[in-house]
Amino acid sequence: MKLQSQLNAAFTALLLVIMTTAGLVIYSLVLDVLIQDEKRQLAETGELLINFLSEQYDDASEYRNINDFLQQQDLQLFLYDRNLDTVLFSTMSISVVNEFFQENNFADTEESLWQHGNDRFVTQRILFYPEQSGMELILLTPINDLRAVQENFFFRLAWVFLIGALAAVILSYFMTNKLVTPLSLLKKELKKVENRQFDQMKRIRASGEIKEVEQSVYDMAQTLEQYMKSQQTFFQNASHELKTPLMTIQGYAEGIRDGIFDEKDTEKGLDVMVTEVNRLKKIINEMILLAKLDSQPDVYEETEIDVQTFIEGIMSKALPIVNENKLELHQQVDGPITIHADEEKLLRAVSNVVFNAIRHASEEVSIRVYQQKNQIYFEVEDDGEGISQEDVDKIFHRFMKGKGGETGLGLAIARAIIEQSHGKIFVSSSEKLGGAKFTMRLPVYTPKEIKKINHKSKDV
Ligand SMILES: Nc1ncnc2c1ncn2[C@@H]1O[C@H](COP(=O)(O)OP(=O)(O)OP(=O)(O)O)[C@@H](O)[C@H]1O
Ligand SMILES: [Mg+2]
Repeated sequence: MKLQSQLNAAFTALLLVIMTTAGLVIYSLVLDVLIQDEKRQLAETGELLINFLSEQYDDASEYRNINDFLQQQDLQLFLYDRNLDTVLFSTMSISVVNEFFQENNFADTEESLWQHGNDRFVTQRILFYPEQSGMELILLTPINDLRAVQENFFFRLAWVFLIGALAAVILSYFMTNKLVTPLSLLKKELKKVENRQFDQMKRIRASGEIKEVEQSVYDMAQTLEQYMKSQQTFFQNASHELKTPLMTIQGYAEGIRDGIFDEKDTEKGLDVMVTEVNRLKKIINEMILLAKLDSQPDVYEETEIDVQTFIEGIMSKALPIVNENKLELHQQVDGPITIHADEEKLLRAVSNVVFNAIRHASEEVSIRVYQQKNQIYFEVEDDGEGISQEDVDKIFHRFMKGKGGETGLGLAIARAIIEQSHGKIFVSSSEKLGGAKFTMRLPVYTPKEIKKINHKSKDV
């Protein structure tokens, strides 16, 4: 069953329940109100009659004249003597009066509904003045007369309810339609996401929660599209990067097998093959590492690291290349700083950035670490050619390499590690040295907080 039909059915059922209950309550209340109103009217009529009779006939003994007068009225009434407990006169026949007398207790002045056969009567009693005379006028109206009014009223009410219900159902149809239409449109858009037709996606006009869901679907589609594009680029670049050394190796291997090369060229070819095999090994290892960093957040084992020792380790690793390139490498750690991170991974990230700087520097490279509030900053600057504005965004992408680059995976790996360590890496121009400046910002977490974060990311 469609959502709109479900909503309409639920609404109609609710409406029916409310209207039936209201109808029944009103139906039963109306009879009570009619009885009360009838009693009031009977009392008024009775008072009028008594006043009139009191003025015309001041002696109760003249009741023969009274009888004649009452007989002329189109009313059902008794003239009752309380003292004698007898009916002196009635506009009804003797037999009916007798039946009334047998079935009801005339002396009981509290009873307001009298029985006669299967009929019931609303009664109203009014005493003649002076009260000691005991003369009483009892007026009656059959309840069936009131029931006719009650049914007429109910019939009209039923019509009003029916028209009201019809209007409400039509209104509900339009309202649910307005509510459900964006959902069905959203379903179509989701189908497009499923079929990867991102370029055909359209925005939907909606409000409230549906608008939020629509926004999330749209964002999700964009992220998915970007992810798929980046995956595609990654595979294209990866296959290209792997194909180039493989083709070189194939060329030399076939040449050596077919005896095309002389001894000198063969030796050179073997050297090239070894270099290319090493390059392949490096690319494959870096790709495996990146895949691991992306898919397994639990490969991070965070420990407490003393930053001074950590930086000295990098310095001693870099020393041979620094000396070879006749560079100056400075380091400065502001105060004793400790950090919680996976030491091996962080070493990899910072080394990638430092070794890039060494490769691109003309004379000088500087490393500075300092803490500001709850953040630890690693800054690596050089005096090389720097990074052009247009490359700033692309530089961290996989296989993006510029002049003097190697595989183009180093910074992608650094970014993956820093972001998994809840930090951020960005590049700018070095004001101090004039080349590139890489900043890695990492939060200062207590081991307890780190456990919490890890726990949360595992839950997700
Ligand atoms: N300090 C720097 N100064 C100027 N350009 C830089 C600097 N660091 C990185 N680059 C540019 O960014 C590109 C990407 O760097 P990345 O470290 O990702 O790859 P790579 O150094 O070429 O190869 P590898 O995967 O071996 O690190 C480099 O090819 C280079 O063009
Ligand atoms: Mg690099």
